[in-house]
Amino acid sequence: MFSAITTDLDRCRQLLKSGEVVAIPTETVYGLAANCMDDTAVEKIFKTKGRPTFNPLIVHIHSVEQLQVLTKNVPEKAKLLAKKFWPGPLTLILPKNEKVSDLVTAGKPTVGIRMPNHKLTLELLAGLDFPVAAPSANPFTRVSPTSAQNVNQYFGDAVTVLDGGPCIIGLESTIIGFEDDLPVIYRKGGVAIEEIEACVGNVKLYIREENTPVAPGMLGKHYSPKTPLLLSQNIEKSLSEFKNKKIGILSYYRDDYSGSLVTKVLSQSKNLKEAAHNLYQYLHQLDAMNLDIIIAEELPEVGLGRSINDRLQRAQNS
Ligand code: TXA
Ligand code: MG
Repeated sequence: MFSAITTDLDRCRQLLKSGEVVAIPTETVYGLAANCMDDTAVEKIFKTKGRPTFNPLIVHIHSVEQLQVLTKNVPEKAKLLAKKFWPGPLTLILPKNEKVSDLVTAGKPTVGIRMPNHKLTLELLAGLDFPVAAPSANPFTRVSPTSAQNVNQYFGDAVTVLDGGPCIIGLESTIIGFEDDLPVIYRKGGVAIEEIEACVGNVKLYIREENTPVAPGMLGKHYSPKTPLLLSQNIEKSLSEFKNKKIGILSYYRDDYSGSLVTKVLSQSKNLKEAAHNLYQYLHQLDAMNLDIIIAEELPEVGLGRSINDRLQRAQNS
C-alpha cells in the first residue's frame, strides 16, 4: 500500500532524481529537499513551504569534497569549523561559485551549506550526483518538524517523507557567516556558541536590530505555534496574570506549578541538550490542545539554553 512515510531509500532517491521534493531526516529537524542544481525542483520547495523566494535555502552535502562544487575562497576558519563539527548541526555561509543558482541563494553571493549527521540521509545523498537544497520541512513561519509524523501532519500525502525517526538534536543548526576573517553567528542553534569560540576564537553575534536581516529566518515571525506564547522569567507571576484562561506551561525543570491545564517539562535534570531535543515536540503537542496561551519559561542563557531562548522569543513575537 502507498504510504507517504517511508524508509525506502531507493524510492526517495528516484523522486529526487526526477525533480520532486522529498522530506529528509536530519539530526536537527526534518528538511524539505530537492535537487539544488535544478531550478524547477527548487521552485517546488518554495511553493510547498509557502516560503517567499527572498529567503535563501541551505544546501546539504555528504562529503567535504562537495564544497568544491558549490563554493570558492573558503575562509580558513570555515575549514576548521567544518572539520570539527561536520557532519553536524552547523551551517556555513560561504562565497558561492557560478554553478549555484540565484534561486537557492535568493540572489546572494553566498550559499549556506551543511553536512547533516544522519545515517539514512548521508546514505541517500551519497547515491545522488547532486547536493540537495532543504529548508526545514514546515510551512513558512510554523514550528519545525522533528519527526516524520510532524511533516506528514503539515503536508499530508503531497510530500513523501523518508522516516529516520525522531531528530536527535531537535533544534535547527547554528548558522555562521564570515566578515573577512571574523565568524558571525547569524542563527543560534545546535552547536553552542561556546563550542564555536573554543574552535575559532572570538565570534560576532549578528544583531537583528542594527542591520537589515541577512538571514530572513532571523525575522520575528518564525518558529511559531498557532497558540499565543509568552516567554516568562517568573511562571507563577505570569500564571496570576492569566486567570480563567486555558493555560499550558512549558517549564524548564519544575512540574509543580498549579493553575494550568498542562505542564510540559523540558528536562527534569536541567540538561539543556535534553531540553532542546524536547522543545519542538512539546510545542507541537501544546499547540494541538486548543489552549488560550502557552507560558514558556526562559532558560539559562548558556550553551544550548541561548538557542532555545532565541526560538521561544521568536515564537512570542509572532
Ligand atoms: O538545521 C537546519 O539548518 C535545518 C535542516 C533541515 O538542515 N534547515 C533549516 O533551514 O533550518 P531553514 O531554511 O529553515 O533555515 C535556514 C536559514 C534561513 O533563515 C535562511 O534565511 C538562512 O538560513 N540562510 C540560508 N542561506 C543563507 C545565506 N546565503 N545568507 C544568509 N542566510 C542564509
Ligand atoms: Mg526554518
